[in-house]
Amino acid sequence: MDCQFDLIIFGGTGDLSRKKLLPALFAGYVAGRLLEGCRIILTSRAPYDGEMIDWLKEVFAENKPACGLEKKMLAEFASMVRFQTLSLKDGGDDWEALKQSLKADADRPLVHFLAIPPGLFTSTCELLGQYGLNGENARVVLEKPLGHNLESAQAINADVGRFFSENQTFRIDHYLGKEAVQNLLALRFSNVLFEELWSSRTIDHIQITIAEDLGVEGRGGFYEGIGAMRDMVQNHLLQLLCLVAMEPPARIDAESIRDEKLKVLKSLRPLEGEGIDRNVVRGQYGAGAMMGKAVGSYADDLELESPSDTETFVAIKANIENWRWAGVPFYLRTGKRLPDRFAEIVIQFKPIPHSPHAGWGQNINPNRFIIRLQPEDHLALRMMVKNHGAKSDTLKEVEMNLDVVADDSTRLGPYLRLILDTVRGDQSLFVHRDEVEYAWRWVDRIINHWAAKGATPKTYQSGTWGPYEAHDLMTRDRREWFHET
Ligand code: BG6
Repeated sequence: MDCQFDLIIFGGTGDLSRKKLLPALFAGYVAGRLLEGCRIILTSRAPYDGEMIDWLKEVFAENKPACGLEKKMLAEFASMVRFQTLSLKDGGDDWEALKQSLKADADRPLVHFLAIPPGLFTSTCELLGQYGLNGENARVVLEKPLGHNLESAQAINADVGRFFSENQTFRIDHYLGKEAVQNLLALRFSNVLFEELWSSRTIDHIQITIAEDLGVEGRGGFYEGIGAMRDMVQNHLLQLLCLVAMEPPARIDAESIRDEKLKVLKSLRPLEGEGIDRNVVRGQYGAGAMMGKAVGSYADDLELESPSDTETFVAIKANIENWRWAGVPFYLRTGKRLPDRFAEIVIQFKPIPHSPHAGWGQNINPNRFIIRLQPEDHLALRMMVKNHGAKSDTLKEVEMNLDVVADDSTRLGPYLRLILDTVRGDQSLFVHRDEVEYAWRWVDRIINHWAAKGATPKTYQSGTWGPYEAHDLMTRDRREWFHET
């Protein structure tokens, strides 16, 4: 049941707020999921004197909400939003004013969304504690990156933990809010068909790809020195891997799901030394062409004077050492400036042991189950059938599409979905501190190895599928990336 709540977006005028949070909240208001009487407070360092509606118009002109812009609705929404000047390092009158403005409604949910650099998490939480804004009705949402390695993540978790209990702490990974990801759980654990086949007995390998066509335009300051391993693998890719690989949870609730995901992270075979050189490919985009238009390299985009060793592409062959997945490789891949934008999980089944149709003279492709998370939600099963009506007997591959999107207007988008879950106190789609820490343990080994070797990423041309070595990672196992055309 939706209810009234207060949401404070720390970093309210920043990139995440403008691009994702405000468009999602407005779409939520239009869809009737954000009730009148909710309050949204955008904190910023500098005061803003203009009208909220004008500012929102500007924000939405650049970042169009999924519902479009309706004048009356926009005016109503604008009346729910206000700015609050606030220092995130020192208390003072502004903090007192914020506290007073929230006092009358001490019982309703109060969500602090920290859309700020992690270096400010500690001081912000301390101030929230100092001004008594961490009571039982309060929850804190932490946007990634949660540190840049295990040590810094542990420090953040410990610092936030001094002011907010684990039950009040919501570590967001917006990939978990995507509809198709939740559907993956529904599908796996509500159909005997899939779960019975979901193991090394029938599955040959699994591919998980998050491909982006954009480069680091506009975000270079954040990205340089971070790279794809920290930005995408440590969180989104490993979270998707957990959901695909985990054992059935006893119940669909936060504790059961997180326990099972954690077991997957603990079973990931650590990559070390030569194993890293052999199983991890690291790339950085060079100049090239996108949709027929020339584009510059990573260093050009950032106007760097000396070369950078930040990677914009990673491909990994990973293994999970447990009973279910023994011998099944998981190929993970993510990159910027690839030819297309999509996120996809491909479950490739083993080839059939013997073909009675061999005389029909053609390849029999292995079955594949494809879970598309974006740009559209899509589930498809690829199988072989008789080539109906063909002159001679032949087989062909067809795709059985599971049309799961009933009505586009009911789709909330990941951020709204996750904010509303926070209001309800439902942590099922949020990441436990132990998960964050185990993911860092695995990723840190790789990053530290690169640093120790002084390894530099391979350059790949913009608009291609990454360095040649990523292709090789597959072909040497006699496999191929499903999507590399
Ligand atoms: C963010 C990363 O978490 O996810 C970005 O910081 C990336 O670098 C983005 O572009 C991708 O999200 P989506 O939902 O657009 O695939």
